[in-house]
Amino acid sequence: MKKILVTGGLGFIGSHTVVELQNEGFEVVIIDDLSNTTLSVLENIEAITNKKPIFYEADVRIKSDLESVFDAHKIDGVIHFAAFKAVGESIAKPLEYYENNLSSLINILMVLKNRNLDHFIFSSSATVYGEPNELPITENAPVKKAESVYGNTKKIGEEIIKDSCKAYGINAIALRYFNPIGAHASAKIGELPLGVPQNLIPYVTQTAAGIREQLSVFGDDYATEDGTAIRDYIHVVDLAKAHIAALKRLLDKNNKNSFEFFNIGTGKGTSVLEIIQTFEKVNNLKLNYKIVGRRDGDVMSCYADTTIANNELQWKTEIRLEEALRSAWKWQQNQTV
Ligand code: WQD
Repeated sequence: MKKILVTGGLGFIGSHTVVELQNEGFEVVIIDDLSNTTLSVLENIEAITNKKPIFYEADVRIKSDLESVFDAHKIDGVIHFAAFKAVGESIAKPLEYYENNLSSLINILMVLKNRNLDHFIFSSSATVYGEPNELPITENAPVKKAESVYGNTKKIGEEIIKDSCKAYGINAIALRYFNPIGAHASAKIGELPLGVPQNLIPYVTQTAAGIREQLSVFGDDYATEDGTAIRDYIHVVDLAKAHIAALKRLLDKNNKNSFEFFNIGTGKGTSVLEIIQTFEKVNNLKLNYKIVGRRDGDVMSCYADTTIANNELQWKTEIRLEEALRSAWKWQQNQTV
């Protein structure tokens, strides 16, 4: 049985990926510092899979802690989620973001190099494409100057990995996520935003739950059909499965380059108003919302061409937007009962 280290394994995408890894017969070792999640997620993963992952409450930035996990386990691959991810906060706290996101990445790569270990999956982001010149976005689209410090940590992170792969013979895949949403069908794990949500779907579900009074739609004057911005919303379980596909590609030595990157989205663009309408319809409720001005730093349209990912990873999304929005609401309701 292959043993996979998952950093940030109790976070939103990490926890769903741990479940899929266990479902696929991998043994999972989690490192999480609980800075943006709770220990209850570990129990909830076990409740879904009937298998408790090995867990270390540790900070990947602390080298000695990281080393002791590698001393205790023979690790066959690493999926690295642990990072700060709030776009707005990153602009106010650049040093904290660069220090956390980059030093944790460097530490792990250093351990892989020093121990002659291999197989690294990195959570990257479609934000590396900035305002795209062409839609849908293919992997051949240029990487642009990052709009935020958070985005820059992903862009620089990819460069650090690429250089390390070349120099040390490490094989790695960066997955450029579009907009992950939804929750596990069991509603036992999902997204746990701290404070006021910045992302659309948690804001929608908290408004429906009465935690927020009104959803603000940021701009209806974009050059899109209904004037609101377009994104590619992917169910987190489909996203989690992309990590398994990428990991298997590395373990089976099917990768074509030592560093590869793939777009992980549905290939379908959806506007903010379409999200609201679909959410209302599938959950049979009404949302209180108003149109306000555009949000700084937002691009008009961002959705993936998934052809390369579909072909190379032999992976594709299976869960429809309707189901994703149903699961997001079911998860939200589970939080308030
Ligand atoms: C989606 C759409 C908003 C909130 C960000 C990061 C990205 C990734 C995912 C991850 C936009 C609109 C939103 C609201 C709204 N980061 N919106 N009212 O900006 O596409 O991507 O999150 O860790 O790197 O940039 O996602 O969910 O914030 O916004 O109208 O209250 O919803 O303007 O068009 P975004 P989002």
